Amino acid sequence: MHEPVEPVVAVVVAAGSGTRLGGETPKALRVVAGRSLVARSVDQLAAGGCTAAVVVVAAGTEDAFAAALADAPIPCLLTLGGAERQDSVRHGLDAVRAEPALAGCRVVLVHDAARAFVPADVVTRVIDAVRGGSVAVVPVVPVVDTVRALAGATSAVVDRSALRAVQTPQGFDLATLAAAHARLAADGVVVTDDAAACEHAGHPVTLVAGSRRSLKVTEPLDLVFAEALARQA
Ligand code: C5P
Repeated sequence: MHEPVEPVVAVVVAAGSGTRLGGETPKALRVVAGRSLVARSVDQLAAGGCTAAVVVVAAGTEDAFAAALADAPIPCLLTLGGAERQDSVRHGLDAVRAEPALAGCRVVLVHDAARAFVPADVVTRVIDAVRGGSVAVVPVVPVVDTVRALAGATSAVVDRSALRAVQTPQGFDLATLAAAHARLAADGVVVTDDAAACEHAGHPVTLVAGSRRSLKVTEPLDLVFAEALARQA
């Protein structure tokens, strides 16, 4: 008899307004070279080893997301987001823990739908690091620009060799991340990513190699790069 496969669930947050990109449709539903960003994200997460996704969306957009994900390679459950990104992640984690089909999930990834071109090998590295015992894992890339830190009216160059830009998917032990988010909510602390939520709760964060292909589609110019990445794949 085969051992049942332990679920690896991706919480894909897509409930933001995407105001920097402009347009009427939610950013994650923007179609690039014939496929929506959210469907592309789920494709890549599945290729890297995720077995299911919980996609967190804004109220009123459920039907459009269900249609965009109708041909996804893994089961996708939709749930509603909250006011801030971290509220949306918390709702997604609640949905993972409430869904009987996902019982036994220990490894959870949190991914921004806008990073639709993340290579499968980055996803696999994140999953493997959590399986290997890390409770919070983030993919990072070196910073290519020279960076200056502002200090009042002056500024100073920062040693970029010590800097890393943080991407998603980030990987976690599910119970650790859920407890970390509960603590954030209780403490009234706002963070910009989930590794920071774990750090606030005192957990170490493990870094793995990300990829420059994991572009976060944010501004209109990013759609030009996205089209090029989609046609190259
Ligand atoms: O605004 P930002 O670029 O940090 O958003 C990152 C991701 O978080 C996006 O995929 C966005 O849809 C999602 N988000 C969300 N709920 C919010 C705000 C942002 O799911 N309330």
